[in-house]
Amino acid sequence: MKAVTWQGHRKVSVETVPDPVIQQSNDAIIEVTSTAICGSDLHLYEVLGPFMTAGDIIGHEPMGRVVEAGSQSNLTAGDRVVIPFQIACGSCYMCQRGLQTQCETTQVRDQGMGAPLFGYSQLYGAVPGGQAEYLRVPHADYNPIKVGSELPDHRYLFLSDVLPTAWQAVAYTGLQRGDSVAVVGLGPIGQFSARIAKHLGMKVYAIDPVAERREMAARHGVMVFDTGEESIGQIREATEGRGPDGVVDAVGMEAHGSPIAKAAQLSAQFLPDAAGKAMMQNVGVDRLAALYSAIELVRRGGTISLSGVYGGSASPLPLLTLFDKQLTVKMGQANVKNWVDKILPLVEDPADPLGVDDFITHTLPLGDAPGAYEMFQKKQDGCIKVVLDPTLSPA
Ligand SMILES: NC(=O)c1ccc[n+]([C@@H]2O[C@H](COP(=O)([O-])OP(=O)(O)OC[C@H]3O[C@@H](n4cnc5c(N)ncnc54)[C@H](O)[C@@H]3O)[C@@H](O)[C@H]2O)c1
Ligand SMILES: [Zn+2]
Ligand SMILES: [Zn+2]
Repeated sequence: MKAVTWQGHRKVSVETVPDPVIQQSNDAIIEVTSTAICGSDLHLYEVLGPFMTAGDIIGHEPMGRVVEAGSQSNLTAGDRVVIPFQIACGSCYMCQRGLQTQCETTQVRDQGMGAPLFGYSQLYGAVPGGQAEYLRVPHADYNPIKVGSELPDHRYLFLSDVLPTAWQAVAYTGLQRGDSVAVVGLGPIGQFSARIAKHLGMKVYAIDPVAERREMAARHGVMVFDTGEESIGQIREATEGRGPDGVVDAVGMEAHGSPIAKAAQLSAQFLPDAAGKAMMQNVGVDRLAALYSAIELVRRGGTISLSGVYGGSASPLPLLTLFDKQLTVKMGQANVKNWVDKILPLVEDPADPLGVDDFITHTLPLGDAPGAYEMFQKKQDGCIKVVLDPTLSPA
């Protein structure tokens, strides 16, 4: 089959690789019909290189049809399924508490990490990913989300990651109808965090440096601002001088605006693997610009919900400000299955309350992945969300 593979810093290629096969009785194999590129894939492309091996199949936002179902998989050939980006068992202590990304059955213990993720480096189990024609789905007795056959893929596809991540980001602010929230970053996660907060009746402000990303959010009733001190001042003014009750950081470690850390991250790419890994894990090389804005912006006693992914363990944080402002910070990978029941009726609603029909900017054949990664990273051609369709033939 054809699959998108990681080959090095800012380099992916489409290769012919062996078809996946059932390995456990609760596995299933799906034929992928849509598979999206995520902001998290840009971390592999850019800064998590030391944890990748050339040839790794990437991608973690797939859906498709079951072509082969293990005897204990709860699926039947022909079922249409969306695959959550994490692999959980559904029955352990953590899964029972809605913490699927901490699943005690599947945790990547040799790396000291939580549940494995599709296509997401050694840190997360080196599991072959979903930007491919076929995908092996482990724990298919629990993870796949079965969906109907009437609606197009794009209504369901974002149940794999973007929608539950955005839902959790808003839920972790602890806010309610009438409260104010600022969303920092209007990539895919920020777009839906803002729309979900609106849908739940909050006043929503959002910040992003990219004009077309602000325009998309504005189309959905969000008050939008460019980055910078002036915007922080305007949002503070609009919230009676206090700042919003909560802030969602939907940027993570690809933030623009922190040049020293950027230089350190870049140099980690060019170190031998072991040194690069140590640098990414132990040295303060994160790009914290968005997080700093969130800490500055949120009102005293407010909550910061981090959905953007950060790495490193020596990231300098303004603890005095966090303490003095009495802030709560809540974060983590999204526990996909914990939120799906709330979201599914909304994506199936003909009125499309979350605006899923206005989101994808590019649908391309799998073979176009290398150009698509570059376009998404450089934010060219109005690119906000790319979906690869392995059933399309190359242009
Ligand atoms: N927690 C989870 O489970 C989970 C799941 C998916 C994605 N993520 C993470 O969420 C983050 C966003 O993902 P995405 O797909 O939306 O990616 P993205 O890279 O398209 O979005 C990031 C956005 O932030 C903007 N931005 C950059 N610097 C900024 C700054 N200083 N201030 C304000 N905005 C800034 C960019 O213009 C861009 O629009 C990534 O870190 C990704 O890894 C987390
Ligand atoms: Zn993703
Ligand atoms: Zn579990």
